[in-house]
Amino acid sequence: MIQIKKISAEETYPIRLEVLRENIPLPYKFNGDFDENTFHIGAYRNKKLIAVSSYMKAENKNFRGKQYQLRGMATLVESQGTGAGKLMLQAAFSILTKMNIDILWCNARVIAVDFYKKQGLETLGELFEIPLVGAHYVMFKKLK
Ligand SMILES: CC(C)(COP(=O)(O)OP(=O)(O)OC[C@H]1O[C@@H](n2cnc3c(N)ncnc32)[C@H](O)[C@@H]1OP(=O)(O)O)[C@@H](O)C(=O)NCCC(=O)NCCS
Repeated sequence: MIQIKKISAEETYPIRLEVLRENIPLPYKFNGDFDENTFHIGAYRNKKLIAVSSYMKAENKNFRGKQYQLRGMATLVESQGTGAGKLMLQAAFSILTKMNIDILWCNARVIAVDFYKKQGLETLGELFEIPLVGAHYVMFKKLK
């Protein structure tokens, strides 16, 4: 069974590094990791952290209202497809809705777009390139 919990910024780092930064020489520590409005969610199986995600107050000019950005969404390779990502996002939707946030958005890697669509996010606009990481879409979910 997968358990979802809030975790610290430091706890996200090993999985961010392994899953999101393999062969990509970009920081795995993000500006905003320790902002007072930021929170991080982890998924555990048998007490082992298998997936992480981070939620930061950040404005995207395409949207109105109160916004949060999803960053650093990653599941360990051997645990991908077992429901961890979905459960983390469901928990985040619930927390953000209670916080009265209007929109959750992210810069989604192309390979993750269908995962996000399954969780109710939509793409906005054209594909764009993030140097060293690759092609992305802005994706978002209206929370109310
Ligand atoms: C994308 C990622 C975060 C998804 O997390 P996950 O824990 O594997 O996803 P889940 O197991 O919760 O999957 C939920 C559903 O989405 C599907 N899914 C998962 N990854 C998918 C993908 N890349 N493309 C299409 N569908 C996907 C699952 O099959 C599952 O479908 P179901 O509900 O019909 O059974 C994870 O695969 C990952 O870390 N990928 C590498 C890093 C990455 O690309 N991160 C996103 C950066 S924007």
